[in-house]
Amino acid sequence: MPTVVFLNHNGTEAVRTEAKPLDALIDLCDHARSPVPFSCRSASCGTCRVVVVEGAADLEAPRDEELDVLDAFSVKAPKYRLACQARLGPSATTVQIRPVRDDE
Ligand code: FES
Repeated sequence: MPTVVFLNHNGTEAVRTEAKPLDALIDLCDHARSPVPFSCRSASCGTCRVVVVEGAADLEAPRDEELDVLDAFSVKAPKYRLACQARLGPSATTVQIRPVRDDE
């Protein structure tokens, strides 16, 4: 069963949750009350940008809509993802993410 660890902006652990393969990060964020902020929830605003600290390969590849928003913020997958769009892969084990900081 995959584990998703949510870090605070400063890298300390905020909360972790058990997940299922193919779970959407946005649902896990809501369920775990993660520190990841959301606004549009539809790949428009970029508010939910996260840094994938561990397990980038455990996430499904981003779709074009997500890549376009990341591009607008001059960041690239797989290090950066949108929590409202990313989904665990079928054989995910551990994913660790934190919200982006203002300086990145
Ligand atoms: S919440 Fe707006 S892009 Fe994810």
